[in-house]
Amino acid sequence: MTARTFRVVALPGDGIGPEVVDVARQVVDAVAPGADLGIEWDERVVGGASIDAHGTALTDEVLGACRAADAVLLGAVGGPRWDTTDPDAPRPEQGLLGLRAGLELFANLRPVRPHPALADASPLRPERIEGTDLLVVRELTGGIYFGASGRDGDRAYDTCVYTEAEIDRVAERAFQAAAGRRGRVTSIDKANVLESSRLWRERVMVVAERHPGVHLDHMLVDNAAMQLIARPADFDVIVTENMFGDILSDEAAQIAGSIGLLPSASLGAGTAGLYEPVHGSAPDIAGRGWANPLATCLSAAMMLRYSLGAAGAAHRVEAAVGRVIADGPRTRDLGGEAGTADVRDALLGALA
Ligand code: IPM
Ligand code: MG
Repeated sequence: MTARTFRVVALPGDGIGPEVVDVARQVVDAVAPGADLGIEWDERVVGGASIDAHGTALTDEVLGACRAADAVLLGAVGGPRWDTTDPDAPRPEQGLLGLRAGLELFANLRPVRPHPALADASPLRPERIEGTDLLVVRELTGGIYFGASGRDGDRAYDTCVYTEAEIDRVAERAFQAAAGRRGRVTSIDKANVLESSRLWRERVMVVAERHPGVHLDHMLVDNAAMQLIARPADFDVIVTENMFGDILSDEAAQIAGSIGLLPSASLGAGTAGLYEPVHGSAPDIAGRGWANPLATCLSAAMMLRYSLGAAGAAHRVEAAVGRVIADGPRTRDLGGEAGTADVRDALLGALA
């Protein structure tokens, strides 16, 4: 049998990005042969690292390489070194937003499934999080992140715009995901105030008609922020617009105990995707060898499943992560004292 070869662009980025991407690459390389996969890694710069090297957070060349690849594995971007309020200065985040827009990755999947062994790591009571298994489907290329913005004299503005087609395609993804899960979609909006939310609600109901087997309900975002920690186990698939999804997914991360555990997949119309941990670049611990690489490894597992067609290999990685969570070693964000390298060794040991 000939190995199927995939091109994967690795974008370690800034802060702890290089440390966690390095571990995830080793984990992917460890499971690839058993799944008959060949991985051709192509490492590039993005974010602050790209600003330093090229004056821009994402070069055309890197975007082109990502467009041509089967998948992109990203660490994190940003850090105080590049923080500025100057609207004309380049920002690391523009690299990430440029990739999402440039690759048309409109659906961001962020699963939250707390591991029982970490019930005490969550600030929520164990009985409250028990049974939680939810998926946030966040719209990723529209809304206030990409609407007209600017300054005008003493005013500044950002505009939230959605088209019907933009809502339909992400809603469709959410319903498809729910059909393979517990069959419930909760659409989150602010339809009591925002016109873009009223269009959102209207279109989600239209898409729901195509999925009679999936139950749909609607929730206002302020109430959702409350319900998410009051009764997280009641949610199955959450679908929401870009900024609400940004905020609610950080909140949901606390259910799992640490944002250091949450993976994400950003998908477009085809099989290519961008995979990254939900956490940021953690500049305060960068370079110290303390970073938790598990969210990036779980993101790599999503890459194996969605972009490389290797569900078995994805499962192996997830099982190894599960074993490390249960038996340790644990990094500081999980109450342990282990370093990134200890977790890497344990993962590779579990896979061997
Ligand atoms: C995320 C991050 C990004 C976002 C930032 C870094 C631009 O918070 O992926 O959730 O707001 O989308
Ligand atoms: Mg965020």
